[in-house]
Amino acid sequence: MTADDRQEQAPVLEALREHDQSPHVSFAPPGHRQGKGADERVLQAVGADVFSHDYLANGELDDRAGRGQVLARAEALMAKAVGAEHAFFTTCGSSLSVKSAMLAVAGRAGSLLLGRDAHKSAISGLVLGGIEPVWVHPQWDSSLHLAHPPSPDDFAAGLEQAPDVGGVMVTSPSPYGTCADLAAIAEVCHAAGKPLIVDEAWGAHLPFHDDLPTWAMDAGADLCVVSAHKMGTGLEQGSVFHVQGDLIDLDHLAACADMLSTTSPNVLVYAALDGWRRQMVQHGTRLLGEALALARLGREQIRERTGLVVLHEQLCGAQASHDLDELHLLVQVDALGISGYQAADWLRENEHLDVHLADAQRVEAQISVANTEADIELLVQSLGRLCDASASFDPPPAVELPEPGELELEQVLSPREAFFAPVQDVPVQDAADRIAAEQITPYPPGIPALLPGERIGQAVLDYLVSGRRAGMFLPDAADSDLGTIRVVAET
Ligand SMILES: Cc1ncc(COP(=O)(O)O)c(C=O)c1O
Repeated sequence: MTADDRQEQAPVLEALREHDQSPHVSFAPPGHRQGKGADERVLQAVGADVFSHDYLANGELDDRAGRGQVLARAEALMAKAVGAEHAFFTTCGSSLSVKSAMLAVAGRAGSLLLGRDAHKSAISGLVLGGIEPVWVHPQWDSSLHLAHPPSPDDFAAGLEQAPDVGGVMVTSPSPYGTCADLAAIAEVCHAAGKPLIVDEAWGAHLPFHDDLPTWAMDAGADLCVVSAHKMGTGLEQGSVFHVQGDLIDLDHLAACADMLSTTSPNVLVYAALDGWRRQMVQHGTRLLGEALALARLGREQIRERTGLVVLHEQLCGAQASHDLDELHLLVQVDALGISGYQAADWLRENEHLDVHLADAQRVEAQISVANTEADIELLVQSLGRLCDASASFDPPPAVELPEPGELELEQVLSPREAFFAPVQDVPVQDAADRIAAEQITPYPPGIPALLPGERIGQAVLDYLVSGRRAGMFLPDAADSDLGTIRVVAET
């Protein structure tokens, strides 16, 4: 059997089918017994099929000791498909995978060099692992009010300043689709003998089309984490670690992931990962090619028919991002005198159209292999109607956007020390200069503006308070209305 023939297999899907063909009587979880015990109203709402294949991974899908190697075979096919040496599936999203990767790489050394544009899950990794962050700051574009990933030189300087870190972590692509120069960053890391982790949650599809930015393993990273549900067609929470080279201790990585993982993984998540890999191997070039063509059509049509600017060339350059995943359409709406928050709310309420990201200036539409030309037409028409309607919108409350450097706060205590310290909630007007004990994260995209252990700057407070007033969503703050901020108590 050739490698291509083997990719026709889908071990998890085949195990599910076999199980269907020889039904078992179960005296083991899940207690709904493939939906037979589930409330009828639940079945009506979510469909009986959701329950019918919800099996125990070991003891039902595979035998008690996993002797069928169902999962291991699916993971090996995934690794082969993308050219990684090893792949591991996880079922709690890249949020779990990012934390596990950080613990595995930096738990022993106690420190990690990482971009300050990291996702909130990375901050949890710092707190859980007691890992000291050595921050590399993103490049701030003060005209677009957008952060670009840090450059290779920024990482080189960071490694010079902190040669004892356990490794390096970079986020690429960003939730906006902008990419770091991974190959050059990997070179910098390897010259210093450090492993590079790439949080590639937004890049699961990158290995499957040549017109997409270079993916982490091809760029020479040691470990990367992808979410198959963001830019792929997996179910929510499906995530994969890809590993290569000898700088990552695989057993230790598996042990770290095991510490954070559930003992009851959802086999439907595994099944969708397995099927998505086969779909991409067999049809990825065509499907992603079509999606890229739709994205280009959308970009062109939005510009021509609505006059709105869709960012592209503006994002890449020497002091900006290295590359862009064109499947992200970043549409500037600020020229209409409205905010991205207003635009997103209006599109949802009036056009039944959901965008992914909204910020003070723009909304972002993410094109997937499932979108059609009709969807693009609807997007263009809806944006056209938004342009017409925008004249009647109330002017948005101004967001006090920080200047370059104003988001770079002093890390006074480690995130763990601050998170577990005695805390107090102080009125926001009294919070400047105090040490934050919580993270405050505009979501999406999920990059914290404030972290435990940072000395709170007035500009960050102004940004968050004015952003909140303008429609920013801050789900993880102790007081998400920002009347108070949780800070380390003064002794
Ligand atoms: C850069 C980045 N990393 C990690 C994650 C976490 O991924 P998941 O939602 O799969 O847990 C996200 C989620 O938005 C993200 O944007």
